[in-house]
Amino acid sequence: MAEITFNDVMNDADVKMLLDTADKNFAAIGYKEHGLRHAKLSSAIAGNVLSYLGYPKRDIELAKIAAYLHDIGNAIERHKHALSGAILSKRILERLGMRYSEILIILSAVGSHEEKDIIPNSQITAAVILGDKIDVHFSRVRSPNGKMLDKHTRVNLSCKNSFLRVDAASKTISLELTVDTNVIDIGEYFEIFLERTMLLKKAAKYFDCMFILYINGNKFL
Ligand SMILES: [Fe+2]
Ligand SMILES: [Fe+2]
Repeated sequence: MAEITFNDVMNDADVKMLLDTADKNFAAIGYKEHGLRHAKLSSAIAGNVLSYLGYPKRDIELAKIAAYLHDIGNAIERHKHALSGAILSKRILERLGMRYSEILIILSAVGSHEEKDIIPNSQITAAVILGDKIDVHFSRVRSPNGKMLDKHTRVNLSCKNSFLRVDAASKTISLELTVDTNVIDIGEYFEIFLERTMLLKKAAKYFDCMFILYINGNKFL
């Protein structure tokens, strides 16, 4: 059976259409960008995390594939998008000819990427969570000039830079945010993103790493 690559998945017409549709659905309700850009960035970060931590090449490829697919369920609806995304991914990966043992790893990562209550079930899932949840950025906001921006939107809008630093030697994974405090105050960041930050912490813990959050150079966690 052929080894399915990240490029095979990225170039698949159905995957492109699903991401496009997911993004259009979100655009229609004024939600932040959730299309090709988010999929590409998440998969690049997920792959880098495993690469820096010394995981095998195939694990890196699977993490990139899972991260690319993690939000395709939003093409159907938002609330259960992790589950619907896993079901959609199954059909695509089967059609492409991926072996079932690998498909299951990806389905589990896609299906549990929003799971708040448990430690991730594999290095692939943990990498997907890190790739997904660090994507806080002003460029994802649809209408920066709108007058009634909610806090969630303002947190994204305030974030000028987001960088994930993985240091295998010191066993730390640090999220370094540059935030415009004219747009939000740091308290608002935590109000909105505490849950997201906890997910990042659990994902780092899977790798036996400490998670550190820096905002504007100050250590917060
Ligand atoms: Fe998601
Ligand atoms: Fe996402």
